[in-house]
Amino acid sequence: MQLQLESRIELSPGDLPMYEEIRHPCVQHKLSLIRDKETGHKCFRELATEITMFVCYEALKEVQTEQVDVETPLQTASCQQIAEDIVVVPILRAGVGMLEGILELVPTARVGFLGMYRNEETAEPVPYYERLPQETPGALNIVIDPMLATGGSTNAAIDVLKKAGASKIVVVCIVTCPEGLAAVEAAHPDVKIYAASVDSHLNEQKFIVPGLGDAGDRLFGTT
Ligand code: PRP
Repeated sequence: MQLQLESRIELSPGDLPMYEEIRHPCVQHKLSLIRDKETGHKCFRELATEITMFVCYEALKEVQTEQVDVETPLQTASCQQIAEDIVVVPILRAGVGMLEGILELVPTARVGFLGMYRNEETAEPVPYYERLPQETPGALNIVIDPMLATGGSTNAAIDVLKKAGASKIVVVCIVTCPEGLAAVEAAHPDVKIYAASVDSHLNEQKFIVPGLGDAGDRLFGTT
């Protein structure tokens, strides 16, 4: 990894192996729409749901399955069904905008909520709410938040989950940046991150550039 002027980090192939960017054209097309400042909150929500489904589809590709026999109209088919206990953990508020998308894929998942906002001056996460389902051994915990910027909120969420006993954690976001990925990898190298885009960098206000603005405000019509 090279440290660039303006403290930017440039990723080279092989750096930070614990993330995956979903470069599929359908995802990139939807990203172009959700980034657009003219996209209103109704469309923004729909796009967040759709992008989440695509990214989670990839994030779940190694989930454990079990064999089941199903009677088709013709004969018995040996099929696979998801066997893992899945807990989805949106980081409030903006993570709620990804909940519908992931629950379309895994409707039986349990859901825990972590409330956190970023202090506007320090960019440090401020926790304000926690309601998690009972942790079961081996459950797959999926943290969802559209933005992984400095990584502070994601790291704080992972800390909470690990303290509660979680051993398998992945993170799904819509946009992130090299600085955030590096911060999460440094603190939690066992946690894989899936993103629709790894953007260029953080600006002085610690916003992802080019990013998509403030995801919470754009999802919920606040300013
Ligand atoms: C945003 C975003 C993440 C966090 C990312 O939340 O949804 O939770 O900031 O920043 P970080 O990686 O530097 O911690 P925000 O504070 O805007 O709260 P909101 O979801 O309630 O809008």
